[in-house]
Amino acid sequence: MLRVVVCVSGGGTNLQAIIDGIADGRIADTRIVGVISNNAGAFALERARRSGIDAVCVSPRDYEDRAAFHGALLERVNGFAPDLIVLAGFLVTIPPEMIRAYPNRIINIHPSLIPSFCGVGYYGLKVHEAALKRGVKVTGATVHYVDEGTDTGPILLQKSVEVHEDDTPKTLQRRVMEEAEWVILPQAIDRIARKGHMEWNPE
Ligand code: GAR
Repeated sequence: MLRVVVCVSGGGTNLQAIIDGIADGRIADTRIVGVISNNAGAFALERARRSGIDAVCVSPRDYEDRAAFHGALLERVNGFAPDLIVLAGFLVTIPPEMIRAYPNRIINIHPSLIPSFCGVGYYGLKVHEAALKRGVKVTGATVHYVDEGTDTGPILLQKSVEVHEDDTPKTLQRRVMEEAEWVILPQAIDRIARKGHMEWNPE
């Protein structure tokens, strides 16, 4: 049984895709043992609780500095004893000590085809605004391992999505979620659950 902790900041539609994927069998042999949000108002916390999943908030506002927040975050994660940590719209930079504690055991979903529209400053709607501004005809989503850079870790899965002429950042965001994110994030977790994360270790 793959024990998964999901880290979230907002609406939690990717979390929902994981919950649904486990329920309908698209994700094998996996349990979400905890959900952690940096934002107490995140609807993702509500989604978790509705599904009977342990959900907690660890907010930087409750700690005197970044180091104390990072320490508390790592302690919470460790408390769930996860095999895999999934960043599903978690808009917090992962502390290096957490990356070192969970080598090749943290994955992230990013709403573009990396290496386009990624790195510092590219998150959420900003990614789709940049894609439309550049005029790309195809975009998509990427699931990748998390290393100490921003969106620089080894790529596990990608899926492309067509850009429409009349797209706004919001319509494009929605299509990328529906056609790519909610598909490849459950697929990536399923593959890791079936094969064990070590087989995916790219090193
Ligand atoms: C998703 O589109 C995810 O790819 C993005 O935030 C959104 C969260 O939505 N993540 C990033 O931009 C990370 N750089 P959700 O809370 O509904 O899953």
